[in-house]
Amino acid sequence: MSKPPATPAVFGDLNPSPRLLMGPGPINADPRVLRAMSMPLLGQFDLEFTAYMNETMALLRQLYQTANRWSFLVDGTARAGIEALLVSLIEPGDRVLVPIFGRFGHLLHEIAARCGAEVTTMETEWGTVFEPDAVEAEVKRVRPKLVAIVHGDTSTTMTQPLEELGQICRRYDAILYVDATATLGGMDFPVDAWKVDAASAGLQKCLSGPPGSAPVTFNERVERLVLRRKHIESGIRPAGYVPPNGSRIGSNYFDLAMLMDYWGEARLNHHTEAASMLYAARECARIVLRDGLDETFARHTLASSALTAGLEAMGLKVFGDRRHKMANVTGVCIPEGIDGDKVRAAMLNDFGIEIGTSFGPLQGRIWRIGTMGYNCRKQNVLICLGALEAVLRRARLPAPAGAAVEAAYAVYTGPAASR
Ligand SMILES: Cc1ncc(COP(=O)(O)O)c(C=O)c1O
Repeated sequence: MSKPPATPAVFGDLNPSPRLLMGPGPINADPRVLRAMSMPLLGQFDLEFTAYMNETMALLRQLYQTANRWSFLVDGTARAGIEALLVSLIEPGDRVLVPIFGRFGHLLHEIAARCGAEVTTMETEWGTVFEPDAVEAEVKRVRPKLVAIVHGDTSTTMTQPLEELGQICRRYDAILYVDATATLGGMDFPVDAWKVDAASAGLQKCLSGPPGSAPVTFNERVERLVLRRKHIESGIRPAGYVPPNGSRIGSNYFDLAMLMDYWGEARLNHHTEAASMLYAARECARIVLRDGLDETFARHTLASSALTAGLEAMGLKVFGDRRHKMANVTGVCIPEGIDGDKVRAAMLNDFGIEIGTSFGPLQGRIWRIGTMGYNCRKQNVLICLGALEAVLRRARLPAPAGAAVEAAYAVYTGPAASR
């Protein structure tokens, strides 16, 4: 056995540099959320704490624009919410259709396949989205139990229109699951109106929180399927409990049937709720709802217009199909002859501003600039554009001095701003 070192390393104070996080997430958390996280811990069955759990459920319903009873938190980052829904819904051999228009569609495919699904995918070029008719044709052909799709795929900055997909899925008796990680709280996502059966998100984008909690929501169609698979953990089974016929859900931590008993009246013990993250999620939802959903969506749209105007004034090209651009993340084509990573490094080191790169076919081809949640503000858009212009001019891009900030400023002071 190796001996421990004579002087154990204690390291320095935790002292992260202040940064302006203008990438595709995480963003800077709203100080009100950080304050909520520092509140005293309570026991998970303390009636004060369970009241906060119930309040959080009520706030999430408003955020998701749904009457779904089951709207609660899964502990973990956004993909914990995705996994909980998919592993609880998919039984090995089930047919699942995943339309893929970016990296996170591939993630849905990957998770569904790990759940044992027989997955059919359809793909469209990155920077475009699907016509509803094309999805309908595949649903008709494949007859899946579940269609899993992303709303806003941050990797391409595109938003898939969903209005018709819910109706299509109902027609063919499929469940519609949507990953709304990057859009919840930033773009309209009315779960009930769009007939979305299940959805999940994270806090670290338009909700202005840190990563680590995944708000989920699902309706009775999903509840029925999940309850058929409800196998309560042996150490906490109530007397006389008889398990149903459905196959046991392949994950204990992400077992929605047990999570329903934990968040519902039964209050049956499962994990120990991540109390500080619950405080965070509650505050995140409160902030958006207090500002108003429509006002918040309009703020994101305005920031997107201002940022786009600034980028174009610099002679840069915005990536992808503009009709389907996300309001909260903007893809920027890296100009010929410019080293994208060097620009990002200068933004970070000289200005303290983080912007993102992308993945797969877009790696090195686009930057991604986020204007989300707490960071979706005029000052940040103007500061980010000013810094990018300075860095690009140093890299010998012939951008007219001052034009980017001026163009964005004009959007913020023009008629679009007062609407
Ligand atoms: C659309 C989308 N889905 C899922 C995820 C995964 O989220 P997390 O990293 O919080 O697990 C992300 C993260 O960027 C995302 O943008």
